[in-house]
Amino acid sequence: MKTFYIETFGCQMNAHDSEKVVGTLIGQGYQQVETPDDAELVFYNTCSIRDKAEQKVFNRLDRFKREQQGKTFAVLGCVAQQEGEKIFEKAPHVSLVCGSASYNQLPNLLVQLETGNKRVTGLSLDTEDTFETPYTRRDNPHRAYITIIEGCDKKCAYCVVPFTRGPERSSTSASILAEAAQLAKDGYSEIQLLGQNVNSYRDPSPTGWDFAQLLDAVGKVPGIRRVRFTTSHPRDFTKSIMDAIGSNPHLCNHVHLPVQSGSSDVLRAMQRSYSIDEYRQRIQWMKDCARPIAITTDIIVGFPGETEADFEQTLALLEEVQYDNMFSFKYSRRPNTPALALDDQITEEEKSRRLAVLQEFQRNIQIRNNVAYVGRVEECMVEGFNKATGQWMGRTSQHKMVNFLRPASDADITGQYLEVRVTRSGPNSLVGEAVQ
Ligand code: SAH
Ligand code: SF4
Ligand code: F3S
Repeated sequence: MKTFYIETFGCQMNAHDSEKVVGTLIGQGYQQVETPDDAELVFYNTCSIRDKAEQKVFNRLDRFKREQQGKTFAVLGCVAQQEGEKIFEKAPHVSLVCGSASYNQLPNLLVQLETGNKRVTGLSLDTEDTFETPYTRRDNPHRAYITIIEGCDKKCAYCVVPFTRGPERSSTSASILAEAAQLAKDGYSEIQLLGQNVNSYRDPSPTGWDFAQLLDAVGKVPGIRRVRFTTSHPRDFTKSIMDAIGSNPHLCNHVHLPVQSGSSDVLRAMQRSYSIDEYRQRIQWMKDCARPIAITTDIIVGFPGETEADFEQTLALLEEVQYDNMFSFKYSRRPNTPALALDDQITEEEKSRRLAVLQEFQRNIQIRNNVAYVGRVEECMVEGFNKATGQWMGRTSQHKMVNFLRPASDADITGQYLEVRVTRSGPNSLVGEAVQ
């Protein structure tokens, strides 16, 4: 039996791709092991979104330079697609380099490896379809990812994704709904629809559904209690998506809508294709919804040319929207991207300062807002038990983490839905007690 180990970096798309790759490898007779030391084949499914992410894979590979011991190394994902055959020069002990658009070629590429080929590649981006497989091995028995759209046709000036994942390709609504129905039969109750820009989903079959229609239909699949989706692009975020959420209780009360900056000048330089007023309008649709929608975002600080006044507009936007959570990053220069050509780079020191100010500002917003949950009863999907604290962990529809106690019982309640009364709050989570 041939053994393999896989480590995954990056976003949920990568996490789900790895579930597909694992299934494909098992289907080919390979056996998964827990450590790279125990494996004959070592896979790294990589991320290239920022320089630090890219460096991680080379750090991992460096560890094995001297003690290769007959192992075979494979680099998958976004660094594989971006660097291609250059990886063989940087890390000569790598034998397989394969981007996400070529995973359906993996069985064939593995055969090439087994026949002794030391430089195997799958780097084509002109694939028509998304990578569907009957073999997907999902990690979580309750929440399942479904990729509905691959690639990205936007050209944000800082971003590598259009180069690493290729052009947009949507799956048919029929295949997505069939998968959701099968997942419900298999006991999953939560589905997360994935894509770099789910809003530009377009059913390639004659049905021609847009994202709002698909979302509503997935939320109506019998047995599916919660549907989430990520990521949304503000330009393609339509009012009909909020109408679907407002009228379908299975669609979670949460929208992740990355804004990147609160300044229209910076947004223009980033080629984000919306102004801050257009973004505000989307936020207003959410605030007008009959259900309380949690709103989260991504911010980049220190994009070339970002002035102190621009940065302050970002702080003002946070204050105005009162985000429930934020992911924030220092701008990182990436290969092939249009922003490489821009002058007026911000120093590393200044980027760090802005990031710290931003994070402290947002932390205070979250502290203030989460206090409002104390005393409320929230339905939580139980995600697991934390042995260190003796508490169960659950998530609300708004995607808030609740750590809670439950009267003594050995029963495993993971995957169940429980009512939890919130007793305390912090910046990143809530604390509570299960309601009897
Ligand atoms: N498709 C998503 C983005 C996925 S990447 C969208 O359009 O919103 C996740 C986040 O990484 C982005 O929202 C952005 O905030 C950040 N990011 C992307 N490229 C970056 C770069 N070059 N430097 C710093 N952060 C970056
Ligand atoms: Fe990158 Fe922009 Fe596409 Fe998001 S929408 S993946 S930030 S190019
Ligand atoms: Fe990273 Fe690729 Fe996802 S660059 S964020 S793994 S699409």
